Amino acid sequence: MPDPIPCQRHLFDLPDEVAYLNCAYMSPLLKRAAAVGAEAIGRKLQPWRIHAEDFFTESERARTLFAALLGADAEAVALVPAASYGLAIAAANLPVASGERILILSEQFPSNVYVWRALAAERGAEVLTVERPAGGDWTGAVLARLDERVAIAALPQCHWIDGGLLDLAAIGARCREAGSALVVDATQSLGALPLDLAAVRPDYLVCPGYKWLLGPYSLGYLYVAPQHRDGRPLEHNWIARRGSEDFARLIDYRDDYQGGARRFDVGERSNFALVPVGIVGLEQLLAWGVERIAATLAAKTAAIAERAAALGIGAAPAHLRAGHYLGLRLPGGAPPELPERLAEGRVFVSVRGDSLRVTPHLYNHEEDVDRLFEVLRAVL
Ligand SMILES: Cc1ncc(COP(=O)(O)O)c(C=O)c1O
Repeated sequence: MPDPIPCQRHLFDLPDEVAYLNCAYMSPLLKRAAAVGAEAIGRKLQPWRIHAEDFFTESERARTLFAALLGADAEAVALVPAASYGLAIAAANLPVASGERILILSEQFPSNVYVWRALAAERGAEVLTVERPAGGDWTGAVLARLDERVAIAALPQCHWIDGGLLDLAAIGARCREAGSALVVDATQSLGALPLDLAAVRPDYLVCPGYKWLLGPYSLGYLYVAPQHRDGRPLEHNWIARRGSEDFARLIDYRDDYQGGARRFDVGERSNFALVPVGIVGLEQLLAWGVERIAATLAAKTAAIAERAAALGIGAAPAHLRAGHYLGLRLPGGAPPELPERLAEGRVFVSVRGDSLRVTPHLYNHEEDVDRLFEVLRAVL
């Protein structure tokens, strides 16, 4: 077990009276990231400070850092603005025949549902939804449905509603046996939960930057497996073409692309205001180390689950949920006054049906958890 990381609240701008336990909604930026962002946007006041090489160097740095976090190399990574954009690239390039299936989870995040519904309708295929398993074992439930009729399994590493965990290495192995492609939405896990890329071997993996990557909104990443890197991009932007570094020769139009997964980069991927901000978050995560982050957050959620259990509030057992995630099930359901009480107490969590999604990070201290329980005791 790696050493826990001490509280890092000093690196963030969270007032003492705010208990922000909602990283799954979006993370706060590091103070340094906001300062870098102010400087970055300020460059546009004086555009001559944005140099031709900046179109390439900053986005390459973000690409390289994300690749390091994932255990891939930079050639594997495209810059995308949203999970939906990355998933659209996967959908545009994966074969699905009439009568085949696309497997998803019940109550999966909509960006990883609509795209497959559309693809299934276009190809005469079927979306196969794995129902929430009574005992919480998503891996078993997925493996039971994954056979050679499944063309694509489009899955998260943990369920966005309550952190229900999927063993993607086991699922990846079954996908390869069955001849199914594996598309992973790592939005709610990458940066907070280790992922063994060599064991999972996804065809595509997408991760927006604004949650567990501590980055800004609208800057995310798509991993593309080697066998798909000659695929079709969604759009045809100039910078993705070979030789785009030479601004004087852009009208020597070229059919070939920049190397690796760069052909899939979104237009204007150089994003001078946001890319430097995303870089700071990725650098910080790499400095802390994902294993240590995961162990620290798992200890935090375990302590919360234990206090909740003493009040009769249940949660999935630790081996069936991602360590950084907790879905608290309130006995008798969520009281109607709960959202108001949480707001009054300045406690930020997500209320999802009858459960509370509690997702701490390294900026949370004991008092945040005390504040959460003050509210829970008052409403139960
Ligand atoms: C599992 C999951 N995927 C994706 C997203 C965001 O999707 P997009 O980047 O398409 O807005 C979220 C946001 O809450 C999410 O929870």
